[in-house]
Amino acid sequence: MLTPDRRSFLCAAGAATLLTAVSARGLGRAFAADTPSGPFTLPELPYTPDALEPHIDATTMGLHHGKHHQTYVTNLNKALADHGDLAKLPLEELLTKLDEVPEAIRTAVRNNGGGHANHSMFWQIMGPPGGEAPDGELKAAIDSDLGGLEKLQEDFNAAGAKVFGSGWVFVTVDQAGKLALSAKPNQDTPLMEGKRVLFGNDVWEHAYYLKYQNKRADYLKAWWNVVNWKAVAERYAAAKAGTLKV
Ligand SMILES: [Fe+2]
Repeated sequence: MLTPDRRSFLCAAGAATLLTAVSARGLGRAFAADTPSGPFTLPELPYTPDALEPHIDATTMGLHHGKHHQTYVTNLNKALADHGDLAKLPLEELLTKLDEVPEAIRTAVRNNGGGHANHSMFWQIMGPPGGEAPDGELKAAIDSDLGGLEKLQEDFNAAGAKVFGSGWVFVTVDQAGKLALSAKPNQDTPLMEGKRVLFGNDVWEHAYYLKYQNKRADYLKAWWNVVNWKAVAERYAAAKAGTLKV
């Protein structure tokens, strides 16, 4: 049987342990609220930052992925830190529900969630220059819906040149495999309309300014050298299967 002294010692020790655990959790929460590490995370680049040279330089890639994209991820997590229900949603679903997001964080979720989705797609659909041209079903869709690759490039570059300030140019794809061009300002994305993106190009100055300065048209033209058509074809097949995400 425990003596009263022993009992009080154990009670005190237990209380101290509990207090320590609670404090640690509290501190963890406080830390998490300042710098949450999730639920969204920066995807790794599927190649080295210099892989797209000479068309996109390694310094631009390093900053673009490691700093700009990371900031969108960090700020999205911060915005959702106190909104566990929204933080649990897949990104493409969250972006279709912006009108259900509390007004206080809606713009942050729109800009940073859009930024995270757009850049996650962007790294995937690029690769070292010298890749194969589109073929098979993808080529057929480009021919029938967008007038062929040359016409697509011409229209896509014109749409990219017309974006005032910062934004993106996309080719969207529906589940029947039909393609369409779409330009968006800022970090908006066709995902916000429940559509799916086959591929797209970032026309924010941070994507090209170090190498191309004000010559966005030159960047738009050169960018086609690093489109990874194999990756685009995989996204096309996923869209038709209903499994394409961001
Ligand atoms: Fe960007």
